[in-house]
Amino acid sequence: MKNYLVTGGAGFIGTNFIRHALAIRSDWYIVNLDALTYAGNPANLENLESGIAERYRFIRGDIRDASLLDSLFLEYNFDGVIHFAAESHVDRSIHGPEDFVETNVIGTFRLLEACRKLQQDKKMPDGFRFLHISTDEVYGSLGPEGYFTEQTPYDPSSPYSASKSSADHFVKAYFRTYGLPTLVTNCSNNYGPYQFPEKLIPLIILNIVEEKPLPIYGDGKNIRDWLYVIDHCDALITILEKGVPGETYNIGGGAERENIEIVHLLCDLVDDRLGHSDRESSRRLIKFVTDRPGHDRRYAIDATKIQTELNWIPGYSFEEALESTVDWFLNNMKWIDSVRSGNYRKWIEQNYQHR
Ligand code: NAD
Ligand code: TYD
Repeated sequence: MKNYLVTGGAGFIGTNFIRHALAIRSDWYIVNLDALTYAGNPANLENLESGIAERYRFIRGDIRDASLLDSLFLEYNFDGVIHFAAESHVDRSIHGPEDFVETNVIGTFRLLEACRKLQQDKKMPDGFRFLHISTDEVYGSLGPEGYFTEQTPYDPSSPYSASKSSADHFVKAYFRTYGLPTLVTNCSNNYGPYQFPEKLIPLIILNIVEEKPLPIYGDGKNIRDWLYVIDHCDALITILEKGVPGETYNIGGGAERENIEIVHLLCDLVDDRLGHSDRESSRRLIKFVTDRPGHDRRYAIDATKIQTELNWIPGYSFEEALESTVDWFLNNMKWIDSVRSGNYRKWIEQNYQHR
């Protein structure tokens, strides 16, 4: 068996990663360490099938808690850390940047320190990896031409991307200074099941269902390079197993779309599912609103390195995966109500004690 520590596994990508990895790697045991902020939902992983559930354990705790980390490393002798835990929403970082420094920078530093201690004490298993999941937002904004490569200089625009940039630098420095076997990934925008309903795609789906305005920042022509979350998870397993320590890998799906295009597609897909006539088209709900400060214009990934060196390409087409994402949200309205309700937060406080 291989034991992995997954941080932030009750969030969007972490949930999908744990479900996917346990299903396709029958020799993995995963400990999910998550503080359960507003974005974390342990119920996402409560109905795992038998044969999978036995290889999963949830621990409520904070990645900044150094003594908790030391005790978990001693208890489980992890073969690696897969580090998702973060404050992840750009808009929240604009209103309150401090949590981003605390979790994304200090939390990552504490995890690195726990690994360094392990290495110093000669307790790090052979083949250990520290996989740090980061974002393409560290590279800043592109004009109409060009792509982000692994050599693109960092140029973050928001407190979120600044904090992720800082964390990436610490991870790379721990490889160069201490020889910690790290891997850094910079991925484009993800979409899919379990995404917290304040990010663009789930927010628009829900607002269409509830007939609320569909807020589009600025002129709606900002471009993101969208990747289905399961493709991201698959790329991460490939990098963990075949990536070269000290290296960085960009991950992207080659699906650049303007925000307005995404919103139009979602209107049409949801209208189709709900049987709306042309006259009732949800496009009428579109509302252009004040732009996000520091709003990056375009992100686009050059994924040549992961394709050529690790032989990885995305498996899902954008249109198909977007459709199945719409269906997932329409079929899981209870999940959405629960993550938005105050009662649910109370229930978490009562049922999930901090370690
Ligand atoms: P998310 O906000 O949905 O989940 C983050 C999880 O981290 C939550 O479960 C939260 O409870 C947990 N967490 C927060 N602070 C913590 C702390 N101090 N200690 C322990 N747990 C804590 O985020 P996501 O969208 O799943 O993103 C996961 C990672 O992937 C992040 O590092 C993000 O930067 C990166 N990423 C995300 C995207 C995307 O499109 N969502 C794209 C590229 C990279
Ligand atoms: P978001 O999902 O917040 O991801 P990120 O900022 O990490 O790229 O936003 C995706 C794009 O959609 C981004 O260009 C901002 C835009 N956006 C809107 O136009 N309206 C919204 O209500 C939201 C949440 C985002």
